[in-house]
Amino acid sequence: MPAITLESQRFELESGESVLAGLERHGVEMPSSCRSGVCHTCMLRAVSGTVPPQSQSTLKEAQRRQGLFLSCCCVPEADLEAARCEDALQQIDATVTERDWLSESVVRLRMQCDPLPDYEAGQFMNVVFPDGAIRSYSLASVPGHDAFLEFQIALLKGGKASTWARDAAQAGSSVRLMGPLGSCVYLGGAPERPLLLAGTGTGLAPLYGILRAALADGHQGPIHLFHGSLRREGLYLVDELRALEAAHDNLQYHPGILHGEAEEGIATEALDALIATRLPSLKDYRVYLCGAPEFVQMMQRKAFIAGASLQDIHADAFLPAAQPKD
Ligand SMILES: Cc1cc2nc3c(=O)[nH]c(=O)nc-3n(C[C@H](O)[C@H](O)[C@H](O)COP(=O)(O)OP(=O)(O)OC[C@H]3O[C@@H](n4cnc5c(N)ncnc54)[C@H](O)[C@@H]3O)c2cc1C
Ligand code: FES
Repeated sequence: MPAITLESQRFELESGESVLAGLERHGVEMPSSCRSGVCHTCMLRAVSGTVPPQSQSTLKEAQRRQGLFLSCCCVPEADLEAARCEDALQQIDATVTERDWLSESVVRLRMQCDPLPDYEAGQFMNVVFPDGAIRSYSLASVPGHDAFLEFQIALLKGGKASTWARDAAQAGSSVRLMGPLGSCVYLGGAPERPLLLAGTGTGLAPLYGILRAALADGHQGPIHLFHGSLRREGLYLVDELRALEAAHDNLQYHPGILHGEAEEGIATEALDALIATRLPSLKDYRVYLCGAPEFVQMMQRKAFIAGASLQDIHADAFLPAAQPKD
């Protein structure tokens, strides 16, 4: 079996075991969250040996050249020597400046830091808690336009970050952020292209940033924003999105719910079915999909079948953080 050497200590890996899982099994403390190659918190640097391409697939070319890799997706075929690389991910201290409720179950936090980090509309940041727990949240703000970082956080019962956002976070609270990260971002340079933005729940957060970045960029092509929720209470920013729709001829906002009374302007249909009815062909579309992993994965397939090319389908599945073992 291959072994991993970290800080001069050698640890045997089991067959098919990732570097992260193996180190943890041997009692080594490692930062991690998604365990799926998304949040980048488990990054290490290869000192010698070869890492599988899969463990670098979501990294930038410059990071690959430095030998950085994600230990949660690294199942090496031969011995590997690695080093910690905490400095490879930018960490910044931010202060909560505003907290308000966008719905009964969604809190908006605005944060300030000096200077604001460089980011692209649609990226996400990791919130790092003092005990080492990490949660990823998408940026709903627009760089160069909003003088703050904005996050929209769904309040899950008993969730660590949810409880903090609901009970503890307030104006003046300090927060440690890591990032920005992610490539589901607004891409300029093709102002005539039609855009499909579709998300469930707080999947609206990155789409709200991407939408406003596109409008600020003078996007000319049609923009369709589909936002889905189980019930009417889960739809938020409805008035703001309707106002944007009224102000921009090329924007159409399509809210949809699964359960509840029909209401003017709100469809009662599954979001994928609503998209298929209103946009039967997605040829030439740039597609952005965010929110519940099941929705995102299903829509990636459906968007491709409806004619969007693979390189034009951008997605952020809101994977939950892996929970600590008892
Ligand atoms: C790239 C990325 C971007 C994200 N952006 C956002 C965002 O903008 N807004 C946002 O609200 N969330 C976002 N998330 C999800 C977020 O990171 C957290 O997973 C989520 O907020 C739950 O964290 P928590 O600490 O409150 O709950 P946890 O303490 O992690 O979980 C508590 C319990 O709830 C379960 N659970 C966790 N998530 C779900 C879920 N979705 N449905 C049902 N059960 C669940 C867990 O398994 C656990 O049992 C994003 C995730 C990723 C990977
Ligand atoms: S990328 Fe490895 S834990 Fe998230």
